[in-house]
Amino acid sequence: MHPHLDTILFHETTILSRLDVLAAQLMSDYVGKELSVVLVLHGGLFFAADLLRRLHLPLRIHSLEVSSYHGTASSGSVTFKQSTLPEVQGRHVLLIDDILDTGRTLSVIRQRLLDECAPASLRTCVLLKKRRAREVEVQADYVGFEIDDEFVVGYGLDYEGEYRNLPLIGTLKREFIHMGA
Ligand code: XMP
Repeated sequence: MHPHLDTILFHETTILSRLDVLAAQLMSDYVGKELSVVLVLHGGLFFAADLLRRLHLPLRIHSLEVSSYHGTASSGSVTFKQSTLPEVQGRHVLLIDDILDTGRTLSVIRQRLLDECAPASLRTCVLLKKRRAREVEVQADYVGFEIDDEFVVGYGLDYEGEYRNLPLIGTLKREFIHMGA
């Protein structure tokens, strides 16, 4: 276990077993359709890489980079790091993000894709969903795991840019979270 971690919520084997189930569900739902995945960077990187390799469907992969978190708290605004959106007009879009927390990120991206890209359909897929009231109402159509309302790192999720490459999901010891973050 990484020395900065306090608890482990999900080991890699647990995550990958759950992805087998999610992938089977997606393949059944999208059979006969061509998919365009829109991956939210960087948090969704490992989740999407492992999930999409399990999907035996024709698909294209696009990415968007946004930021909304400062330290361990949501900043309240979602900033797009690029000026253009993916070309997914008329396509069946699956929006993949790491975690549904306040709901702001997924809601803002979803609405922009619907308003500006005219997809044939749009569904959302997150690895983690926090058990908490959303600040912005948004549904995740596919969810890996539900978790309590606590800050987690690993398997794509970071704290100030670190810990994304841990192959598991866990919480940080308090001494490694900077005061005021
Ligand atoms: P919202 O609040 O917009 O959050 O639903 C979505 C984005 O915020 C980041 N986030 C987290 N990152 N541990 C993290 O490392 C967390 O517990 C956490 N909660 C939210 C993440 O980038 C996500 O896409």
